[in-house]
Amino acid sequence: MARRPPNRDRDKSQEPRAARPGSGKHGPQPDKRPQPDKRRREDADATGRPRGLMKPSAAPVPRRPAPKPRGPRISRETLGLLLQTDGWDQYRLLDMGEGEKLERYGDLVVVRPEPQAMGARRRPAKEWDAAGAVFTGDVEEEGPGRWRQAPGIGESWPMAIDGIDFICRLTAFRHVGIFPEQKVQWDWMAGRIRAADRPLKVLNLFGYTGLASLIAAKAGAEVTHVDASKKAIGWARENQSLAGLDSAPIRWLCDDAVKFCEREVRRGNSYDGILLDPPKFGRGPDGEVWSLFEDLPHMLDLCRQILSPKPSFVVLTAYSIRASFIAGHELMGDLFGDLAGNLESGELVLRETTADGTPGRALSTSMYTRWSAP
Ligand SMILES: C[S@@+](CC[C@H](N)C(=O)[O-])C[C@H]1O[C@@H](n2cnc3c(N)ncnc32)[C@H](O)[C@@H]1O
Repeated sequence: MARRPPNRDRDKSQEPRAARPGSGKHGPQPDKRPQPDKRRREDADATGRPRGLMKPSAAPVPRRPAPKPRGPRISRETLGLLLQTDGWDQYRLLDMGEGEKLERYGDLVVVRPEPQAMGARRRPAKEWDAAGAVFTGDVEEEGPGRWRQAPGIGESWPMAIDGIDFICRLTAFRHVGIFPEQKVQWDWMAGRIRAADRPLKVLNLFGYTGLASLIAAKAGAEVTHVDASKKAIGWARENQSLAGLDSAPIRWLCDDAVKFCEREVRRGNSYDGILLDPPKFGRGPDGEVWSLFEDLPHMLDLCRQILSPKPSFVVLTAYSIRASFIAGHELMGDLFGDLAGNLESGELVLRETTADGTPGRALSTSMYTRWSAP
């Protein structure tokens, strides 16, 4: 049965990932739930441009009692650790400023809104003007045409990460199929998988276009990938073929992440590593409502219950929510802190590459908390 819809404001600029893959039977789609009164949106309109001050949103109403802390914390805790991605041959953050960022994905340079880019641009205007695609956001959310493309630039193009070829696409919600700042987590995860003395079982919840699943499988894991959007699963499978990983042990499941984990608890299945990158709001294939503030405690409690007796890692990331990484840290501390190991929290950061190729300014993209075995 579908859970009740949230009753809070929804701020598109604050939930870049929730909006895009929206999820549902017909693929990553816009959220069709009743939209809040536009006057109550908080910081920005759909293009990420700031609005004036608005009323603060109501506090989230928990759906269930908070899960009980597991016991005294014995994990070693680190707060405020920045994990930085400098870019790689196929990805560069080239410049940012005046509310936008200039990035190169494969051969395509794109301009997208970035509310945190408040400073001055460093590169000449002609470099910005030469971008192949600019997210304008000016057409209806559900329609095409939210990007302005240079002549000859299509909707999709190839890119690669660590020898894994995949497809980028200009989506209606300004994302392109990869969140490059995740590379630092994926490298760390692949290192743990490769160093394990057995093939780790990895669960990728809210897995989107499957890059983390492909990287985990390539490193030797048996992967279960769960996403509510058929279209996202289709894109992920397309990526799997392009990457030449068709025979890799990956189960692609179109399912509601909460329901799936509840079933895994009942079945007694377990995983050695869990990734979860939930949106602020989303929908399961049967319209189940996902609301991060209301559902995350239960979700993490389920993750704890399906952690194997010899677990390796749990990584939570969250984008553009009104919470500090400390909130994620304390929640994970309650549920995983009783395990010996390391509990680390901070932000995922992209480092700019300047015109002369040296590292430039930092851009924070998201918060994370991760537990790992000693
Ligand atoms: C932010 S993306 C994850 C990005 C991915 N982990 C990465 O870094 O490339 C969020 C994904 O959650 C999915 N989603 C939303 N609600 C869901 C739900 N209730 N159950 C499962 N997946 C859901 C969306 O379809 C979308 O693909």
